[in-house]
Amino acid sequence: MNYNKKTVKDVDVKGKKVLLRCDFNVPLAKDGSGVITDDKRIRAALPTIQYLLEQGAAVIACSHLGKPEASFDKWVKKQTEKGKDPATLTEEKWQKTLKELRMEPVAKRLGELLGKEVILADDVVGPDATAKAAALKSGEIMLLQNTRFEKGETKGDPELAKKMAALAGADGVYVSDAFGAVHRAHASTAVVADYLPAVSGFLIQKELEIIGGALAAPKRPLVAILGGSKVSSKIGVINNLLEIADTIIIGGGMAYTFSAAQGGKVGNSLLEEDWKAYSLEMVEKAKQKGVKLLLPVDTVIADKFAADANSQVVKSGEIPDGWEGLDIGPETVKLYCDAVKDAGTVIWNGPMGVFEFEKFAVGTKAVAEALSETSAITIIGGGDSAAAVQQLGYADKMTHISTGGGASLEFMEGKELPGVACLLDA
Ligand code: 3PG
Repeated sequence: MNYNKKTVKDVDVKGKKVLLRCDFNVPLAKDGSGVITDDKRIRAALPTIQYLLEQGAAVIACSHLGKPEASFDKWVKKQTEKGKDPATLTEEKWQKTLKELRMEPVAKRLGELLGKEVILADDVVGPDATAKAAALKSGEIMLLQNTRFEKGETKGDPELAKKMAALAGADGVYVSDAFGAVHRAHASTAVVADYLPAVSGFLIQKELEIIGGALAAPKRPLVAILGGSKVSSKIGVINNLLEIADTIIIGGGMAYTFSAAQGGKVGNSLLEEDWKAYSLEMVEKAKQKGVKLLLPVDTVIADKFAADANSQVVKSGEIPDGWEGLDIGPETVKLYCDAVKDAGTVIWNGPMGVFEFEKFAVGTKAVAEALSETSAITIIGGGDSAAAVQQLGYADKMTHISTGGGASLEFMEGKELPGVACLLDA
């Protein structure tokens, strides 16, 4: 895939309307109050927005927020699949879920950060958005309602994409800065580029340069640290990085599937039986490719999955029944930290243990600390590893923390990203 894309600097936006896709999919407080618990993604979009406004563009920003169901029937179907009693699923309840995912909190926070009014539309391509977009002047910014309120959004409906493009008018421009959503071939993330000249914002440009650079021409040795609970969700990444990396470090819950595949006893630890054979294949592939594959040599086990569980350290593959592995052990910590010391580039995706419980955050914390001390380029995939680095206080010490969870994962899998592929080549 070509990552060399035109950016906002390559187009003249003065006096034009710019449809700007952002990833404002921010976490909201669980109590439905609309409080944004982390505004990092809004902040990450500011350089592009400020630049466009300074250049005299009228900015029509848009984003999805959460996973609303745009149709009542589909919502009922999904809830029923989740085990909810259909008799309790009323239209009123569905409307409430939509209300909780309206863009008001995002518009408010964005306005505060920009220090100017953000005009909020009541719909995505309906009469309110159309009227407000038509009246929007140079240097002004508006925000559309949650793009996923439109049925056609996740289906990548060309009709919806056409209507979104029309908001920017005949000489409009599409700018995508929604790195977190570039793995989605949705109407607003990719299809809309069929109807407007499409370029990237600064955030996508930076993510492509740093992650793309590390994958295409890394400063070696390239060490990839892969953790998280499941082998199944990291297969693509392990497989692709075995082609590129010099060392691959495996931690987190998925290490127990590797251990079991090699005949180890894993007690009650997370185990994906169906992925044991695949784990062995990966061990074999690493040997063939001459990639150093490091697996835990010891593990911290717990007598229950809880913050206050009793714990002890045992050798990998020797976990007694009734116990489960929740973190890498001290010998493994040393081994892994040594491995990143002389790295040229480190890519980290997925925690080493259940870092949400302090007692089992030691491995993740040690790796984060080792990364903060190395002179290597350090790239943290979004999602859990980004959250861990932030929670543990090492965020400022990393070269780059991706704003994309699924997107950075698919990028590292070597997959084509529709939201990038649709942009004009530089
Ligand atoms: C994310 O949070 O990873 C992005 O905003 C994409 O969201 P999605 O998984 O709901 O498409």
